[in-house]
Amino acid sequence: MAEDFSVVVVGSCMTDLVSQAPRFPKAGETIHGHRFFIGFGGKGANQCVQAARMGAKTAMVCKVGRDVFGNDYIQNFKNNGISTAYVEQTEKAATGAASIIVNDTGENAIVIVAGANLLLGQEELQRAQSAIINAKVLVCQLEISPDASLQALKMARENHVKTIFNPAPAIAYLDSDFYKASDVFCCNESEAEMLTGLSVTSVEDACQVGLELLNKGCASVIVTLGSQGCVVCQSTNKTPKHIPTIEVTAADTTGAGDSFIGALAFYMAHYPAMPMEEMARRANLVAAVSVQTVGTQTSFPFRKDLPTELF
Ligand SMILES: Nc1ncnc2c1ncn2[C@@H]1O[C@H](COP(=O)(O)OP(=O)(O)OP(=O)(O)O)[C@@H](O)[C@H]1O
Ligand SMILES: *[C@@H]1O[C@H](CO)[C@@H](O)[C@H](O)[C@H]1NC(C)=O
Repeated sequence: MAEDFSVVVVGSCMTDLVSQAPRFPKAGETIHGHRFFIGFGGKGANQCVQAARMGAKTAMVCKVGRDVFGNDYIQNFKNNGISTAYVEQTEKAATGAASIIVNDTGENAIVIVAGANLLLGQEELQRAQSAIINAKVLVCQLEISPDASLQALKMARENHVKTIFNPAPAIAYLDSDFYKASDVFCCNESEAEMLTGLSVTSVEDACQVGLELLNKGCASVIVTLGSQGCVVCQSTNKTPKHIPTIEVTAADTTGAGDSFIGALAFYMAHYPAMPMEEMARRANLVAAVSVQTVGTQTSFPFRKDLPTELF
């Protein structure tokens, strides 16, 4: 029998190519920047890394290119203790890449080429079927083809695997089956706005959109609110609950949402009897650690860095 995983993520891997420059170049212009670095990103991979660092036994289902970035990403998964049994390499496209320019005022301009991520489809999901249907929790986002995400969620759901769906990056017209296939539908304010057409500028607004999304058929909805924590809505009681977080000095919030979701996946898999509001409270505290240092995966805490009360 194949080994069972507690958290399986079906999603994206991206190599971040980051240049820091005084300003953005104009069309046709070449300018000098002052720093360059390569980082591991992609929402799917980020969420998997955070769950693994919390102590979950994880597998990533994804596609990378048969190129140096793909090879390096596979090594990154191994370094984080993530199974790469379902990480496939393709000749047909390059590993997903995000070319990012950050100017001196901290704004960024980004070109994403999803590449190999978009070639993850039905056949790959079939090959990963035993991992998906025997997991405790399956996590999906929207950086791969929406059809593949939906199919993975349905495959999990039909086999009583708990599902977390993060509709990011948001699309205005989301197939209604995504809501029905989500045990936890977890989005941020701008995604909630796009999906409902309602504006979200306060905790009260977040409670309102949370209920709106819940009515589309999810078992629970979590709307994350940056420094304000999150709002949790559950079909069992229908009363939205604001879960505030601690005040910290944010150095870089990139990936905070992914840290939150990775931590939530860990709690759902390892503490199935814990109330959702308590899981969200703890996931807030994990994500709060991640915003205090620069970087994406590099800022995600390991179990040993977190207070024992979180376990
Ligand atoms: N400034 C902050 N202080 C404390 N916690 C934070 C802060 N920013 C984010 N968080 C934590 O991270 C979670 C997710 O943040 P947010 O709602 O900004 O997600 P996001 O927009 O998807 O993140 P990202 O910046 O990666 O796009 C929040 O629910 C909160 O727990
Ligand atoms: C929500 O997440 C998206 C990425 O999916 C990001 O571009 C956007 O800035 C986030 N919104 C907020 C309010 O943090």
